[in-house]
Amino acid sequence: GKDGYRHYMEKELHEHPVVIGQTLRRFVNPVTHKIELPELPFDMKSLKRGIITACGSAFYAGVIGRYWLEELARLPIDLDVASEMRYRNPPFDKGGMGLLVSQSGETADTLAALRALKKADQKIISVLNNEHSSMARESDLVLGMDAGVEIAVASTKAFTAQLTVLACLTLVMGQERGTITPQYADECLTALLDLPSRVAEVLQMQEQIQKMAQIVAQVQSVIYLGRGIMFPVAMEGALKLKEISYIHADAYAAGEMKHGPIALIDNTVPVIALLPSGPLFEKTLSNLQEAKARGGRILVFTDAKGAERVQSIAEQIVVLPTVHSFVTPPLYTVPVQMLAYEAALLKGTDVDQPRNLAKSVTVE
Ligand code: F6R
Repeated sequence: GKDGYRHYMEKELHEHPVVIGQTLRRFVNPVTHKIELPELPFDMKSLKRGIITACGSAFYAGVIGRYWLEELARLPIDLDVASEMRYRNPPFDKGGMGLLVSQSGETADTLAALRALKKADQKIISVLNNEHSSMARESDLVLGMDAGVEIAVASTKAFTAQLTVLACLTLVMGQERGTITPQYADECLTALLDLPSRVAEVLQMQEQIQKMAQIVAQVQSVIYLGRGIMFPVAMEGALKLKEISYIHADAYAAGEMKHGPIALIDNTVPVIALLPSGPLFEKTLSNLQEAKARGGRILVFTDAKGAERVQSIAEQIVVLPTVHSFVTPPLYTVPVQMLAYEAALLKGTDVDQPRNLAKSVTVE
C-alpha cells in the first residue's frame, strides 16, 4: 500500500534515505569501513576503456557515473542512450567494460545494447534493481541496488540507488587504479554514509519546493541549467517534470545556453539552476545573470554559501544542506524530483500513471 502517502511516487520519494542506506550496507564492510565489491570480470588496473549505456533516468545516472569514473578512476568512458548504442557499432578493444544501468532489467533497448556489447567481447556489469531479470541473466556481473519495488511509473528512489552503486564502483576503481588516495576515498565514503541524513533534511523542505512548484505549474515551458556533474541532474529534473506534469522542460549544460536556448528566455520561461558552490559556481552564475537580463525568472537550488551570491538575481532559492562535492548529484536529485511531484499535484495529473507511459518499456 501507500502507507498513508497520496501517491506511490510520494512514498517512494520518502524512501530515498532508506534505499541509499540499504544499498550502501550491501557494499560497505561494517567492521573495516571499506567498500567491498564482488570480483569484477576484468583487471581494474589495466582496463583501458568503458562504455555506459541505459535509457531515460537510468541513462542520466549513467552520465553521472561517467563523470565520476573519468574524474576519479581516470577511465575513459564512452556513453550513449541504449537505443542508439545498439545500432552504433563503434570500434572496441576486447575485454573492455560494458556498464549497463536499469531499474527493471527488462528494458528492450538496454537489453539489446547489452547483447551488442557482449558480441563485441565487452565484459558486462549491470547495475540493476531487479536481480532476476533478463539483463541479470546475461551479465558477467550484477551489482544490485536495494531500492525495493518501485511502483510509480516515474523513477525516483531507483535513481539514487543507482548512483549509490556507481559511487561505490568509482571509489573501488579509483583506489585500485591508484588515481585517488585512500584518504580521499574515505572522505567520499563518509559523505556517502552521511547522505541519508542530508536527504532526509531535503525531504522536509516540501513547503519551499511547493512555492517553486506554484511558479512552474503556471508556465508552459521551463529550462533547467547545470554545469559539469550537475548537467545530468538537470536532465533528470526536466524529464521528471515533463513525464508527470506534462509541462515542457529542457535541460542545457549551462554554457550552452548562449548558443541558442537563450532566445527562448522571457518572463514566461523560468530558468531553474542546480548550483552547488564549487569551482564551476561563478561560471553558471554568470549564465544566470544573462538570463535575468533578458527578463528570465531565476529559480535556484544551492547551498548556504551559494545562496548569498545568487540572492540578488533569484526569485526563489531553495537552500540545500552543504555536502561534500562527491555527493551533490544524489542530493540535488531529490528536490528536483520533489518539484516535479509538487507541480504535477498542482496540475492535477495522474502522478503514478502518467499518460502514454508504462513502467517497463519491453518493446523497442
Ligand atoms: C523516468 C523513467 C524512465 C526509465 C527508463 C529506463 O522516470 O522511469 O525514463 O528510467 O524507461 O527504465 P529501466 O531503468 O527499467 O531500464
